Amino acid sequence: MTRVQRERAEDKKSPNEARVVFSRFRDLRSRTLDVFSNTSRYKENAPIENRNGVLHIGGSSAVELAETHGTPLYVYNEDRIRANYRRVVEAFKRHYEKFSLFYAVKANNSLAVLRILQQEGAGADVSGPTESYLAVRAGFDPQRMLYSGNYHTNDELVQGIRAGIKINLDGISQMRRIIELGLRPEFISFRINPGIGKGGHEDQVYAGPNVKFGIKESEALEAYRMAKEYGIRRFGVHMMTGSNILDENYFETITGILMDIVGRIAKGLSIKFDFVDIGGGLGVPYKPEDNPLNVELVAKKVVERFKQKVAEQGLPKDIVLMMEPGRYLVCDAGVLLARVHSIKEADKIFIGTDAGMNTLLRPAIYGAYHPILLAGDLEAEYRKEVTIVGQICENTDHLARDRLMPVITEGDLLAVLNVGAYGFAMSSQYNTRPRAAEVLVASGQHELIRERETFEDIERRMVVPERLK
Ligand code: LLP
Repeated sequence: MTRVQRERAEDKKSPNEARVVFSRFRDLRSRTLDVFSNTSRYKENAPIENRNGVLHIGGSSAVELAETHGTPLYVYNEDRIRANYRRVVEAFKRHYEKFSLFYAVKANNSLAVLRILQQEGAGADVSGPTESYLAVRAGFDPQRMLYSGNYHTNDELVQGIRAGIKINLDGISQMRRIIELGLRPEFISFRINPGIGKGGHEDQVYAGPNVKFGIKESEALEAYRMAKEYGIRRFGVHMMTGSNILDENYFETITGILMDIVGRIAKGLSIKFDFVDIGGGLGVPYKPEDNPLNVELVAKKVVERFKQKVAEQGLPKDIVLMMEPGRYLVCDAGVLLARVHSIKEADKIFIGTDAGMNTLLRPAIYGAYHPILLAGDLEAEYRKEVTIVGQICENTDHLARDRLMPVITEGDLLAVLNVGAYGFAMSSQYNTRPRAAEVLVASGQHELIRERETFEDIERRMVVPERLK
């Protein structure tokens, strides 16, 4: 039984999720302070606080934020994003100076969020031309960007190479097309499928059998040979085997497998690799029983294995170790505020909010669990099982199913946690609903970083042919 499960079992009368969530951050804090010396520039703050029973994010009251900016509202805590970044980078750099972190833009593409991570010193992992455009707008140097899409079109290859971004290919046909088009990238990397993958959910596994990503080792040799014969002189290697992984041993295992492949390619073709990118995937606790990932331990294990393999395979001592996390940097910095508008007592109690699968898709497509708090009364007892839904005309439209919650009434404000990654980024206009606004909070200040969409925004690109008018 985990500590959290024990706490819940002991507290039968009131298994208060708010308490579980807050204790997790307290734990993380004391654990991190143990690991980091007093001299570290690292500053750890919980992303959310309980001030007299009212949820506060970055020093701002959730209740006031909702009143000022309306709901549904995505709120991001700037300090937490910075702290998350530093926690990873400092952990890896403590063991290996030549570590480099590229932020996976797909997790959260808000310009302000990109700017924060760019200021911190991150590079950017972009999945296509629009993400690279945004990253450049946020100040990222194209030289510190990796173009890691999949099934690139010719146009995308042309755009990425012209922009001077490091190109990562996930199929041999892309190399063939680069040659046919006469494109001259300075640098090429391939995404390898190392044969195993792992993820927080079966749909978050991106390597192993039957996945659409990457190339197998058997083809990799051919791919690099083709690139070398074409005159490419600088190489990298990449993998991305899954997302939301909380197993602290996994990253080391997968690094070992990739390094053996890298060693065989380097020897077989006499090529030198500039970097080894082990992808993203660092997990975040969503469910009450999940424990936070000990990133310090992950870093230590990965680097030990990495160095061992560098020596064993005779790889260059200055080879860069790269990681490209998305979720870990932004997930717990984000809170979605939703207003309860309508409650229905049917077979179940349905709590209707203004945020649905159009606002946060993860529960509908992965059955994902997000902690949900009653923002204005964090001390309330959890005593009623309810299903929390949005306003979309689909029965998959829910934020939580059969969840024990405090008594909720119409007009209450709910806070859905851990939505900073793949939250807004996967939202849609389904059922013709404008997308939510986004706000950044820091030191009690709150600023709008993305305006709420309007009816006009929805209509803007629609065209009615003359003959139909
Ligand atoms: N690099 C590449 C090439 C990726 O495709 C991804 C995520 C990442 C890095 C960042 O992975 P992370 O550190 O965030 O695990 N929609 C899903 C997650 C999809 C992740 C796709 N690729 C979700 O909501 O959980």
